[in-house]
Amino acid sequence: MQKNSVYGEHESIVRSYCRRFPMEITQARGSYLYDTEGNRYIDFLSCAGSVNYGHNPQVLKSALVNYLESDGIQAALDMHTVAKGEFIKVFHNAILKPRKMDYRLQFTGPTGTSVVESAIKLARKQTGRKNVMAFTNGFHGMSGTSLGLTGNRYHRQAVQDTHVTRLPYDGYMGEELNTMAYLRRLLADNSSGIDLPAAIILETVQGEGGINVASTQWLRELQGLTREYGIFLIIDDIQAGCGRTGQFFSFELAGIQPDLICLSKSLSGYGLPFSLLLIAPEHDKWMPAEDNGTFRGNTLAFVSAKTAIEQFWLDDRLEQDIKRRESMVRSCLQDLLDRYPQLVKSVRGRGLFYGIEFFDPGLTDSIATECLARKLIIERCGPDDQVLKLMPALTIDDEILANGLSIITDVVTQFATLNAQLTQWMHLSVPQEEALL
Ligand SMILES: Cc1ncc(COP(=O)(O)O)c(C=O)c1O
Repeated sequence: MQKNSVYGEHESIVRSYCRRFPMEITQARGSYLYDTEGNRYIDFLSCAGSVNYGHNPQVLKSALVNYLESDGIQAALDMHTVAKGEFIKVFHNAILKPRKMDYRLQFTGPTGTSVVESAIKLARKQTGRKNVMAFTNGFHGMSGTSLGLTGNRYHRQAVQDTHVTRLPYDGYMGEELNTMAYLRRLLADNSSGIDLPAAIILETVQGEGGINVASTQWLRELQGLTREYGIFLIIDDIQAGCGRTGQFFSFELAGIQPDLICLSKSLSGYGLPFSLLLIAPEHDKWMPAEDNGTFRGNTLAFVSAKTAIEQFWLDDRLEQDIKRRESMVRSCLQDLLDRYPQLVKSVRGRGLFYGIEFFDPGLTDSIATECLARKLIIERCGPDDQVLKLMPALTIDDEILANGLSIITDVVTQFATLNAQLTQWMHLSVPQEEALL
């Protein structure tokens, strides 16, 4: 299909998601996507977490249409606009203030990687240090500095930011290594060969790296160390934030106060490019225009982001809904782990950010492919793409969620049955072979 299409002929080979999901999409509403052949798909990908409230949520769409119809300004550089002012007010009053968080807002370039670049730039400027610490399986983007922080070997390039020290993430070495004790030693030892870093950057739940969840204890200890050594603690909440793990920020549960917080993806609520760096006030030491650019704030995104906060974050209804839906996901996944321990290595996650790790990455691939054949869009993650990644919209109807989960259950069951038959056949065939000897 793709080979003969306009995409195969003219678009760069670098294209990615469309290879797994080759259908041509026409429309999307809520948790459904529609293609040109009249198929309807359940979406468990949510554009890698950039449409947490589903596709085209009506109230956001109306706000955008009204803004466009009124000739509201779109391109405005970083000038004051009513749209920006209203977003700032709502974000401050509804997100920061109730959580007793004091941060200044920097509107960076519109993608996730741009906000990471700005965060590291600020930390280096402030501390006068070059080195940055990042974790195994971390993913922070694909531009110069952020690529240096990203762990995945396939994505890394010969030339990138090399002033990065890689640390083992919580649980990376199982019981064999206390990762926090290791870091403490590296920092304390003047001969460790590691320069004191400007910053330590991490995701509290690693998305692309395989849905690895850091414990609250580990996060608190990490914050303690960063305070002790004057290191910026940067939480990359680009994928895990905006409600994905059950609360607006993924680190709320741990009760930590990062120096810098990176937000993007679902911040606009509508899939519009929009990023925000939250800066603890004492670190807001930029000179005017020092970190400048054209698309610093996207006015349409201000409108939808403000509306999304008003719609979903003024009370705890969404949080309660996420909890209920999380228990549906958890019980389905636990059931698969209990029934098929020979195939499923582990299940893990938080909020509506879950993964099923299979022993065999080839099986994960086959399962994702079969899910697509049954009209469920689901992606894989982890170093070998061995984890099936569940990211339904936070607002998904319970019934659609249940349907998506039952597709996964059916497909895993189908492969488990096949596997069992194959194993039985191999057992049966051994004595016959032996009889021939
Ligand atoms: C945690 C995290 N940081 C940064 C990025 C980079 O964002 P973008 O692709 O918008 O540059 C991503 C993208 O998936 C991400 O998941």
